[in-house]
Amino acid sequence: MTISPEDNTAMGTNDEETSAVKQASAPFVGGDIPAELYGQIGEILQQKQNFTLSGYKDLCMKRRIAARIRSVGLPGPEPYLALLRENSCEQEQLVASLSIHVSQFFRNPSTFAVLEKMILPELLQRTRDHHSKLRVWSIGCANGEEPYSLALLCRKLMRADDLLTIIGTDVSRAALQRAKRGCYPQNRIAGVPEEMLQEYFTPEGAEYLLSEQIRHQVRFFRHDILSDQPFYRADLILCRNVLIYFSRAQQRKILQILAAALPYNGYLVLGRAETLVTACRELFRCVDPAERIYQRLKTDEKPLPLPLPCLQPLRKASR
Ligand SMILES: C[S@@+](CC[C@H](N)C(=O)[O-])C[C@H]1O[C@@H](n2cnc3c(N)ncnc32)[C@H](O)[C@@H]1O
Repeated sequence: MTISPEDNTAMGTNDEETSAVKQASAPFVGGDIPAELYGQIGEILQQKQNFTLSGYKDLCMKRRIAARIRSVGLPGPEPYLALLRENSCEQEQLVASLSIHVSQFFRNPSTFAVLEKMILPELLQRTRDHHSKLRVWSIGCANGEEPYSLALLCRKLMRADDLLTIIGTDVSRAALQRAKRGCYPQNRIAGVPEEMLQEYFTPEGAEYLLSEQIRHQVRFFRHDILSDQPFYRADLILCRNVLIYFSRAQQRKILQILAAALPYNGYLVLGRAETLVTACRELFRCVDPAERIYQRLKTDEKPLPLPLPCLQPLRKASR
């Protein structure tokens, strides 16, 4: 299996997460975590952090755990397991290292160009024709860059009487708290068009604060796409750079959940390195192969009925 560029970036970010638990000893070399220890790490994360390790690609997760072991300066998985058992701070750090939050405003600009020129105008027209509301769901929204980019685009395209709801969900509470704050360093907003930058961002120290009117357009919820109940029904779902972390079996399960959350003709956008697993191809029509944009087909598998399942508000927590 190849490790994506995001994995490498992720390992690079662990330095900043190195905490007080750093110890002076020979660092762990290599990336293999024996199956039994890996299982025990998974149990701790499940029990203490409600984070499900199984389902993610083992190799990918093991490499990140190994990077974390190196970050805290321990010589191997066994002493790390002992640390993890008793140190809730380290449990949180490990979850943060495993669920990587790399993102940017208007990441993959060509995808947003297709959304702006084709998908959003069509969906907005559809909602006008049906006197309904446009619903957008960003899954694995990280620190909010993706749903806020959609909010900025929609603001540009919408008429005064159009109605819009944008939901951002992620498994990481820490990322969601940052998303709610809406304050970003320069490198995260490099893709924002100049006129939007001028209108909607204000410098705040070394960062840039997104205006309240855009922040209020997006609601954030903690939701695990794999193990929590189906959550929302949307006309447009972005689930970009999330599937890559899962095994094919779990990708299939997630894609079936997404198909159920889309109405017929609703749109799904995956990441540029992602694609539909074979078993799900009959659920979608490929609209733009380069941008990984798909449209829900009418099939025997029915979308979720409205009204929507209850939304759980985001509570203050550290994960
Ligand atoms: C690389 S980021 C993608 C951010 C954004 N979608 C983009 O493409 O720029 C992956 C995000 O998926 C989230 N994630 C991982 N597993 C998840 C799950 N089971 N349910 C929901 N979100 C998940 C991670 O916490 C992380 O914020």
